[in-house]
Amino acid sequence: MSRILIAYASFDGQTRRIAERIGATLMDAGHAVTMRPAVEGPALAAAGHDAVIVGGAVRVGHHSRALERAVRAHASQIASRPNAFFSVSLSAANNAAAAQGCIDAFVRRTGWTPQRSASFPGALPYTRYNPFIRLLMRFIVGRAGGDTDTSRDYEYTRWEDVERFAREFAARLVPIAANTIRR
Ligand SMILES: Cc1cc2nc3c(=O)[nH]c(=O)nc-3n(C[C@H](O)[C@H](O)[C@H](O)COP(=O)(O)O)c2cc1C
Repeated sequence: MSRILIAYASFDGQTRRIAERIGATLMDAGHAVTMRPAVEGPALAAAGHDAVIVGGAVRVGHHSRALERAVRAHASQIASRPNAFFSVSLSAANNAAAAQGCIDAFVRRTGWTPQRSASFPGALPYTRYNPFIRLLMRFIVGRAGGDTDTSRDYEYTRWEDVERFAREFAARLVPIAANTIRR
């Protein structure tokens, strides 16, 4: 059993939901999970945890600056444990290069190179946006040929990919735990 910290930065809730699904999958695999919104530096303090997963949503081409600051402040603590990063965006659904570009920028700005990273398609909750954001998103998404019915919400996350990411992370922890016991 490992103690795993999952810290996430979510604006509209989808990254939080993905973090929760990762947490539930890890708990099913027998691990203890701490979930923290990564809006402040201390959220990433990894003391007392054996492994760290960080997740962040993309807005206007980048991850949250607060998340970047929190990760930068704890980069060596995170890097000294099994770790992974997941990024949530709309481009992850149809523009893998753009999604990867956001991860690359995050790595450059934080100084943390995750052992594993993934891009997950997020959601388009039109009905929950304020009128300005709803119009803006409809315009941006429509120009890219995406869904523009603002009377409903869209979810693009493929939950089986999220669960696979969590299971693969858990699988890598097992040999580490076994080594620890032998030593
Ligand atoms: C104002 C705004 C800007 C966004 N900018 C981008 C963007 O630049 N690239 C992208 O791929 N997705 C963008 N998105 C889509 C979000 O990444 C997507 O909705 C994601 O699910 C948000 O995660 P969250 O619910 O955890 O905040 C944007 C969404 C909003 C509302």
